[in-house]
Amino acid sequence: MRIFHPSLGLAMALSLAAPILAHADEAPGDPAAVKQDEDGIWRDKAGDPTFKVEADGSVDWETYSGFRRYHSECHVCHGPDGEGSSYAPALKNSLKTIPYAEFYGIVVSGRKDFMNGNDKVMPTFAENKNVMCYLNDIYVYLRARSQDSIPRGRPAQHAAKPPGFDAAQEKCMNAS
Ligand code: HEC
Repeated sequence: MRIFHPSLGLAMALSLAAPILAHADEAPGDPAAVKQDEDGIWRDKAGDPTFKVEADGSVDWETYSGFRRYHSECHVCHGPDGEGSSYAPALKNSLKTIPYAEFYGIVVSGRKDFMNGNDKVMPTFAENKNVMCYLNDIYVYLRARSQDSIPRGRPAQHAAKPPGFDAAQEKCMNAS
């Protein structure tokens, strides 16, 4: 094989570049909140869940709910405030590049990557309603952390619970 042939060199360069480009295409876009669902979740212009922080630092209800859910279900491995631990990655960094759909898939299916001596496991949460019924909340909380839009710790102020929130959660928690 003539690896120094110019066109082959170009093909190799493109095949190396392709995964990076593909990832950039899918990366979470502009996090600005443009509209709010009936159950209170803010959406960005692509329709993905997002956070909304007011000028006084007050956060939307989902971001606040996500803070609480993250700290009951995820922080034992991923560290407080999405900062990471020696066991699991800092999700405040992961969410700079992992788009919503991929985040959702990882939490539903879990992940094992035993390459390079890594023996750590991300469990599947598909059967855990305390996670699945609040996954959008956890996502928007971590998305806000990934953008440095909220500081570490419990949000000092938050919006009131949207009227549809309890009904939507109850429906989810009671679904079989
Ligand atoms: C029992 C420990 C544990 C718990 C609890 C846990 N995770 Fe993980 N998670 C991991 C490990 C370990 C990895 C890295 C897996 C690997 O090496 O591929 C990971 C990876 C991830 C990733 C991919 C990060 C990246 O940069 O590739 C996401 C997203 C994630 N976890 C989300 C969550 C969320 C959300 C929760 C709470 C609902 C949660 N995890 C709870 C251990 C855990």
